[in-house]
Amino acid sequence: METKIFNKDQIPEAVELLKKGELVAFPTETVYGLGALATNEKAVKGVYQAKGRPSDNPLIVTVSDEEMMSRFVSEVPERAKKLIKHFWPGPLTIILNVKKGTLPDAVTGGLPTAAFRCPKDDLTHELIAKLDNPIVGPSANTSTKPSPTTAEHVYHDLKGKIAGIIDNGPTAIGLESTIVDLSVDKPIVLRPGEVTPQEISQVLGQEVLMNKGTTQTKGVPKAPGMKYRHYAPSAPVYIVDKEEDFQSIPHDDASAVAALDEVLAGVENKNKFSLGKTIDEAAHNLFGALRYFDNEPNIKEIYVQGFSKGNISAAYMNRLNKSAAGHHFVKK
Ligand code: TXA
Ligand code: MG
Repeated sequence: METKIFNKDQIPEAVELLKKGELVAFPTETVYGLGALATNEKAVKGVYQAKGRPSDNPLIVTVSDEEMMSRFVSEVPERAKKLIKHFWPGPLTIILNVKKGTLPDAVTGGLPTAAFRCPKDDLTHELIAKLDNPIVGPSANTSTKPSPTTAEHVYHDLKGKIAGIIDNGPTAIGLESTIVDLSVDKPIVLRPGEVTPQEISQVLGQEVLMNKGTTQTKGVPKAPGMKYRHYAPSAPVYIVDKEEDFQSIPHDDASAVAALDEVLAGVENKNKFSLGKTIDEAAHNLFGALRYFDNEPNIKEIYVQGFSKGNISAAYMNRLNKSAAGHHFVKK
């Protein structure tokens, strides 16, 4: 199949394709998503196929506003209303109990809950509002590869497998949304993102827990997609926690480095990728760096700068840890 690229004037064409059950990738402020009509089970199954994603891993339901979400839940809890008012449209995904029979099992993975997200992107907002129906929205990458932060990344992974891609340029944040579970007594953040547990806690006036990866609902892991080695290029990744340790990493041509400019300036390696000047820029550039190295067959090891300060550092380190399978560079 030919994969068409749509610009801002071609949203109606993308709407028609989605109505017919075709797959169209869409921009958000975090990463690009892979869209299909959320109420069309066959279309949703196509999403798993195109991504090569295990079918027990539920999909985010992407809506244009609270009203659209309310069609799929028995009630919108007060806590959800507060968070929506404060953070939507924006990078916060909310898990709620779903109204039985409103969403196919292929969306929820058979869970009694669903993850709702309202992204901040004009084109995607227009798309979903015109469709008047939510679309599923997993990241538009091949399963286990880094999430796409440009339309080119999506094209690289999914060309020939999906009907179209809406191109709205590089995404602003570069790491996926924060996921907070409100289907339980104490809200729990299942995946860190730009919105921090502290900010959520402040808006709710309630304690917010941070998932350590062990919580289960009836044998199904919470945030099932958060399993290990993910966002992974083919060469092994090592986290470099201290700036001065970049002096001690291997400097041969098969060893690549991704770090802030100030660090790169003092490193001799031939293969260098700039993560920018600040930690926010590094968050924005991380997946692009991992993808860049993945396409360089001569690179055998990748050394990436770690961060411990800044609001986005928990999200950044969460993704970097997964791509590195937890491996840190240790100075001998
Ligand atoms: O920023 C984002 O959230 C992006 C953009 C495209 O919107 N989407 C995204 O989707 O990251 P995905 O599928 O790559 O990650 C969604 C995560 C998965 O780990 C999935 O297991 C989890 O959300 N999830 C979905 N529904 C869930 C549910 N009912 N309970 C627990 N986890 C759920
Ligand atoms: Mg993903």
